[in-house]
Formats: sequence, structure tokens, C-alpha cells
Amino acid sequence: MAEGIRIAPAEPAPESTADRLARYMRLGTLSLPALPPLSLYVHLPWCLKKCPYCDFNSHEWRDGGAPPEARYLDALRADLEAALPFIWGRRAVSVFIGGGTPSLFSPDAIGTLIADIRARLPLEPGCEITLEANPGTFERDRFRAFRDAGVTRLSIGVQSFDDARLARSAACTTRRRRAPPSKRPHAASTPSTST
Ligand SMILES: C[S@@+](CC[C@H](N)C(=O)[O-])C[C@H]1O[C@@H](n2cnc3c(N)ncnc32)[C@H](O)[C@@H]1O
Ligand code: SF4
Repeated sequence: MAEGIRIAPAEPAPESTADRLARYMRLGTLSLPALPPLSLYVHLPWCLKKCPYCDFNSHEWRDGGAPPEARYLDALRADLEAALPFIWGRRAVSVFIGGGTPSLFSPDAIGTLIADIRARLPLEPGCEITLEANPGTFERDRFRAFRDAGVTRLSIGVQSFDDARLARSAACTTRRRRAPPSKRPHAASTPSTST
């Protein structure tokens, strides 16, 4: 048999992640009558200090003052915009702003974050918007301001109601630091809570 130049069939180009996602997300691919609603998670990674037991992506803010709110909000906005092509036409039923200790961010910054989300992603009416909060990083007026900023629910981490246990676990809060009675939130000023 004559030897000659043999042309192998071209290898198919590898499918890009964006193409693969678009293929999976096509209506009917997953045999779903409609694409399911979304829940959006937003991570704010800073804390007053790092608890020794914590496995989360959380970091002590060492530079003093407030965390870098404006720069981080810019980055979150860009991140959400980059993800939008994958979720066109879908709505979110819940938003969870977790951490870290998101309640270290000012109510103004949280308001800007929520407005940025609303401007880019349709939220279902009554969409639950949760903010994770650490005892010691909020008090009544701040609660009210978070509520006014659009937060409808707080998720509060309580490691123990016993200060001695808290001290042993080196958690960055104590019952006393949680809030003096005069500053404790009350129902009228507080979004719904979970602990
Ligand atoms: C990551 S924190 C974020 C909210 C807030 N900073 C706080 O401490 O409550 C949320 C919850 O995760 C819990 N947690 C932290 N490290 C954990 C671990 N290694 N295993 C299980 N839960 C953990 C904390 O106790 C806290 O209640
Ligand atoms: S405050 Fe919460 S997120 Fe921060 S280090 Fe402690 S457990 Fe982790």
C-alpha cells in the first residue's frame, strides 16, 4: 500500500466552560419544566478576630478602622456582572450575606450592596435578605439601619450563653459584649432572626 500523507480527523475543540454551562442550562436539558429559582450567597470575609475553631474563609481585619467597603463592593459588583450571562431570566428567592462578620460593614455599605444586587438580578417579591451578624458588632440603632437598608432577617451565631465556655473557646464575643440592655434590639427595630 502506498505510503502517503495521512490526514487525521481534526480533534474537536475543547468545549469552553461557558459553552458547557450554556448547554447544561438550556431548557429541557435537565428535564425541568423551568429552571429553578436562585438563592444568592454573598461572602464578606472579615471579622474582629479569627476564632481558633473557625474553618470558614474569614480573616481578622488588622488595618484598623472599617474594612475596605468601597473596593470590596466594586469587586462584588464585577463578580455578579460576570455571572449574569449564566442566569439570564432567572429570579432569586433569597439572598444570604454571610461571612466572616458582614455586620462589620456599615448599614450604608450593606444598602449599596443590596441596591447593586436588585439592579442586576430580579428578586422575587418578599425575597428574604439575610445578614450574618456577630454579637458585639451591632446594637439597636444599627439593627434599625440594617433593616432600613433592606435586610429582612439576621442570622446570629451564638456559641454559648456561658461566658466561661465562651472564654475557653476563645470566641470573639462574650455575653456582655453582645449588647448592653439599653441597646438590645427589640421587635419593632429588628428584622426576623435565626441563631
Ligand atoms: C462562619 S460563622 C459566620 C457568622 C459569625 N461570624 C459568627 O461567628 O456567628 C457562622 C457559624 O459557623 C460556626 N462555625 C465556625 N467554625 C465552625 C466549625 N469549624 N464547625 C462548625 N461550625 C463552625 C460558628 O460557630 C458560627 O455560629
Ligand atoms: S467571628 Fe464567625 S466567621 Fe469570624 S472567625 Fe469567628 S466564627 Fe469564624
